[in-house]
Amino acid sequence: MPVLETHGVTVTFGGNVALDDVSIAVRPGEVTGLIGPNGAGKTTLFNVITGMQPVTSGGVRFQDRDVTRWSPGRRGRAGMARTFQRLELFLSLSVRDNVRVAGDIVRSNTRRRFDVAARTEQVLARTGLLDVADLDVSALPTGRARVVEVARALMTEPVLLLLDEPASGQTESESETFAELLLEIAGAGTAVCLVEHDLPLVMQTCTTIHVLDHGRLIASGTPAEVQASPAVIEAYIGQEATA
Ligand SMILES: Nc1ncnc2c1ncn2[C@@H]1O[C@H](COP(=O)(O)OP(=O)(O)OP(=O)(O)O)[C@@H](O)[C@H]1O
Ligand SMILES: [Mg+2]
Repeated sequence: MPVLETHGVTVTFGGNVALDDVSIAVRPGEVTGLIGPNGAGKTTLFNVITGMQPVTSGGVRFQDRDVTRWSPGRRGRAGMARTFQRLELFLSLSVRDNVRVAGDIVRSNTRRRFDVAARTEQVLARTGLLDVADLDVSALPTGRARVVEVARALMTEPVLLLLDEPASGQTESESETFAELLLEIAGAGTAVCLVEHDLPLVMQTCTTIHVLDHGRLIASGTPAEVQASPAVIEAYIGQEATA
């Protein structure tokens, strides 16, 4: 059973169609990839899923409920968490405080009661951030700062974790460690949806991949299936030719 489904999601901005009849599913226990060239509509789809962007038509189901008209806050309380393409961290706070504050926010926005300090230490350990926990985020290289964003999202113990280019700025070895983290998070039961241009990371972690191009879903399948899809090859070659 998918935890998240979009049904025929269409979003237009003025005359521009950013998403055109997009239906995808995201299942628990797996990393689901969402890839496509720049401007394909990946972030817009995340905005629709999290309630930050209203649909022109179509709908979103989360945990078998129609959440299309729910506010972002209500979706968050129901178990959605996301990270942003642009880092949204408190740069002058330490790594530990950035993570702890996310826990404080969950506690004040929900009726959930838990030990914020204890969960902070668990999440820092799980994400491999203990060695840099006392540093200001501004002192971290971008690749590690992205992991802090994931750690903040994990403080909510999400049912669905949406990651928008979490590996951008990561070195090859950081990206390998990150792949293990994604598989561990999914293995623990969270549905992970990954938007990423780092295709080796996507191919290594995802069970299913959805490919967008100019707002349209041009392929959905296993890594092997999408890599063999002529439409996908065409979209990526087209991008390289114009880059
Ligand atoms: N708020 C907005 N108003 C108008 N147009 C928008 C808005 N947000 C996105 N768009 C347009 O919608 C299309 C899809 O953009 P989107 O940011 O979703 O792409 P993306 O796949 O995330 O690209 P990238 O890989 O560069 O992050 C683009 O043509 C973009 O210019
Ligand atoms: Mg984007």
